[in-house]
Amino acid sequence: MSPKKVRIHDFREMKARGEKITMLTAYDFPTAKAFDQAGVDMLLVGDSLGDNMLGYDSTVPLTIDEMIPFARAVARASERAFVVADLPFGSYEVSPEQAVESSIKMIKASGASAIKFEGGRRIARQVKAVTDAGIPFCGHLGFTPQSETALGGRRIQGRGEQGVADLVADALALQEAGAFAVVLEMVMAPAARAVTAALDIPTIGIGAGPDTDGQVLVWLDAAGVGDWHPKFSQQFAQVGAEMTKAATGYVEAVKSVSFPAAEHTFED
Ligand code: KIV
Repeated sequence: MSPKKVRIHDFREMKARGEKITMLTAYDFPTAKAFDQAGVDMLLVGDSLGDNMLGYDSTVPLTIDEMIPFARAVARASERAFVVADLPFGSYEVSPEQAVESSIKMIKASGASAIKFEGGRRIARQVKAVTDAGIPFCGHLGFTPQSETALGGRRIQGRGEQGVADLVADALALQEAGAFAVVLEMVMAPAARAVTAALDIPTIGIGAGPDTDGQVLVWLDAAGVGDWHPKFSQQFAQVGAEMTKAATGYVEAVKSVSFPAAEHTFED
């Protein structure tokens, strides 16, 4: 029997009963299947695809057309998890119409259940237009990688009284525009607490401390793939080292002709 699909109303109910929401990024079918079976509530086809999987310097060059096959693979693999797809830089900022067109394109082509893009009050009109079109929307505040240059680098957000007030105002604007959740990235813990207390919808933190309603990590950071060890992440496995071990063993076995052995060979 298929597991019960996580639905949009489940997230508010989880916030109300104090159950933490889990979200991980995923970009392909087998990884998404493993995370779905592990009970991750939400899978994010993030634009971190650009720098983590496609080798770009940042998320900025990525396009919707590049993202769609990855998002489609994740949606196909997810029996239980709720799938959210990012809109990449340049595909929603111009106008509410552009945001709706891009969101419809992503949802129709990928089968994802919801859209996420970055910003607060400055993109509230876009968010309202997207939710009015019937598309579930997840916000993204704090450090927003698509604006890294404008923010002056990877800087922690929500510092001081004004920083907290700005973040709360942005989050309320997203809630008002119909968002069902808000990701808070690299935010001072007191600011994340203030936003979480101010909202009826859940907050999902990454580098925002323990008091958000849920947590999200880029899966390669959580699984120990690659050399980047951000302070806010934890490696729950050493998948990178295991992959190197598998490839090294394979190379040795082929070179020494111990693989393929009789049991791997079709012979009369
Ligand atoms: O693209 C992404 O992976 C994200 C997470 C960091 C939240 O937006």
